[in-house]
Amino acid sequence: MIKLIEETVDYLKDKGFENPEIGIILGTGLGQLINDVNIIKEVSYNHIPNFPTATVEFHKGKLIYGTLAGKKVIIMQGRFHLYEDYSLQDVTYPVRIMEKLGIHTLLVSNAAGAINLNFKKGELMLIEDHLNLQGSSPLAFKGVEKLGERFADMSAPYNTEINTKFKAIAKANNIKLHEGVYASVFGPQLETRAEYRMLKILGADAVGMSTVPEIIVANHLNLKAAAVSVLTDECDPDNLAPVDISEIIAMAGKAEPEMVTLFKELISTL
Ligand code: HPA
Repeated sequence: MIKLIEETVDYLKDKGFENPEIGIILGTGLGQLINDVNIIKEVSYNHIPNFPTATVEFHKGKLIYGTLAGKKVIIMQGRFHLYEDYSLQDVTYPVRIMEKLGIHTLLVSNAAGAINLNFKKGELMLIEDHLNLQGSSPLAFKGVEKLGERFADMSAPYNTEINTKFKAIAKANNIKLHEGVYASVFGPQLETRAEYRMLKILGADAVGMSTVPEIIVANHLNLKAAAVSVLTDECDPDNLAPVDISEIIAMAGKAEPEMVTLFKELISTL
């Protein structure tokens, strides 16, 4: 993998992706942050050597380099999911690339269902910890120790200083920001009532199909990491209505201005 990473990094450096400080992964319906970015370079995923290629059509699939709130950022517009038939190593490959390019911090957004029924759809949740329920690890491969500590420490996977800042920014801007545990599942099917009950018993506040692999690799590489979920549906097993994916995407869009404010203000402090 080291050779592949070097090849990808050389290509991007050649394209002008110079010394980014912060990496950002934009999740479903959270793309508006891009409007505030002074874009210097952008490359489609399918032009980047050794990059997995984007499949789900509502993701644009571009790597963007620019400045945001005075910081050099690298943005993944569109991410890779396990349920699209990518491996955990594919899903996390871009994190390894961003780290080699020089980022010190990884920020992630996603859409998630609310397991904690005190949380309502359209609200945001700062991820404080996670449950990896995707059945494997992005670190479970031969040679992983050449890239970092195989037995990566996960005692504080989400950076507490960044989370403290997020909470202060939310308060100052009158944004409701819950805090909780995110469970990652494989997907793409949504959960059964029994699965929602299980997730609650396990201690999850929200459930989604992403983020955890990227956060594990960020920790493997000693990056500071943080993530915010937009809650798009309420997972009440006793009153479960059929989920409409277009409604989920619409709900993610509704919360977007708040998410953009949180990220922009946070980045200006990093
Ligand atoms: N389950 C899993 N993933 C999700 C959900 C959900 O209810 N909502 C948004 N992403």
